[in-house]
Amino acid sequence: MITTSLSPNQQLQPLSTAVNAKGHLTVGGCDVVDLAAQYGTPLYIIDEKTLRTAGEQYVEALTRYYPGSSQAIFASKAWSMLAICAIVHQSGLGIDVVSAGELLTALKAGVPGSSIYFHGNNKSREEVDFAIRSGVTVVADNWTDIDLLSELAIDQPARVMVRVTPGIECHTHDYIRTGHLDSKFGFDPNQLLDVLTRLANSPNLRTVGLHAHIGSQIFELQPHVDTVDVLVEWFPKAQALGLSEFNELNIGGGLGIRYTESDDPPSIEAWVRAIAEALVSACQRTGLPLPKLLCEPGRSLVATACVTAYTIGATKTVPGVRTYACVDGGMSDNPRPITYGAKYSAVVANKMQETRRETVTIAGKHCESGDVLLRDIALAPLERGDCLTVFSTGAYNCSMASNYNRLTRPAAVLVADGEATIVLKRESLDDLLRFDCLPERLKS
Ligand SMILES: Cc1ncc(COP(=O)(O)O)c(C=O)c1O
Repeated sequence: MITTSLSPNQQLQPLSTAVNAKGHLTVGGCDVVDLAAQYGTPLYIIDEKTLRTAGEQYVEALTRYYPGSSQAIFASKAWSMLAICAIVHQSGLGIDVVSAGELLTALKAGVPGSSIYFHGNNKSREEVDFAIRSGVTVVADNWTDIDLLSELAIDQPARVMVRVTPGIECHTHDYIRTGHLDSKFGFDPNQLLDVLTRLANSPNLRTVGLHAHIGSQIFELQPHVDTVDVLVEWFPKAQALGLSEFNELNIGGGLGIRYTESDDPPSIEAWVRAIAEALVSACQRTGLPLPKLLCEPGRSLVATACVTAYTIGATKTVPGVRTYACVDGGMSDNPRPITYGAKYSAVVANKMQETRRETVTIAGKHCESGDVLLRDIALAPLERGDCLTVFSTGAYNCSMASNYNRLTRPAAVLVADGEATIVLKRESLDDLLRFDCLPERLKS
């Protein structure tokens, strides 16, 4: 049974969101205004129910729609943190990592190496060695990876998957098919036969399958269906070369989420179903036994689970143009608006029962004119001290956070059943100076 009909990635707010008798926003049964007062702002607030539901929906949909074996893997680049890796793993998912740091985080969260996949277009020798010693599957992205794997998998064989660029290029609302992709990731399909031949002659490399990731925040199902068809063609070829363990097809991540009212992504269930059915029918067509199906969601697992609470400080009205209201964070805790022009939704957590009768632009506190989190958004009238809360901030926010302008990075709390638990401590001013060194000769 699918846990709930609500697919987290289709919601603007976490599943547990409500408004209490004081007219305050609550998440996970906790008053967001109280959390902001207790833990300070900016504050990432993670709803455990939403996170678990998204993970369970991936696992349940794979079981329901795919008759072969399957494994959902969390792309931890979206938010690599101990508590998130632990919850996602408890929900039945493996973890995809792209660096020694993400690998260490997953291992320390209790995820066994056998459930971890190591990606990346420029893995260091140390990273490949760490991955092999941890029993992790390494996704070979280029010839250098294969050279490193061959050099290092001496005492212990390495489990290897191959990443290919399938010639399907995706943007949020459209996609194109091209013969070659100008991408730093993965092998060109024209090289694949040589790659598989080399791997077939590398006894210490156990090559288990093929991977592709075609893009992110995708709202269409067809690009992933097409990718399945491209990947399936290679399975008989690999097996004919003697790669007897070649049995895993990893379709990557990419399912989009609803950041604003107008976003309309498919549900987790619909996405998994489309891929599973495409693979079953491709296998029927070609007579291929069903491979193990893997997918690698990042954004659609964690984005909706988190909201960010800020405190409103200065406001400024440019007559006839717009009113700016400034928050105590900005591009350092959420670099997506300035980087990609990403759009978000927000509310005033302490004024949930007031009408949204003013249009304002929410600016961050950084020394960049482009440090604007939300442009021309309708909100309850804002005053200094109000608690502005931005939704869907769980993916690629904290993981891309910086100390620009020497701001301390926010804390994160996990909320469930009216209880809040710190899962990421707030940085202190002293933390900012932890790695600075002032040479003796510069001291005055
Ligand atoms: C290899 C790989 N897998 C999975 C993902 C996750 O994608 P998303 O967050 O869109 O689900 C990414 C994101 O860039 C990726 O590069």
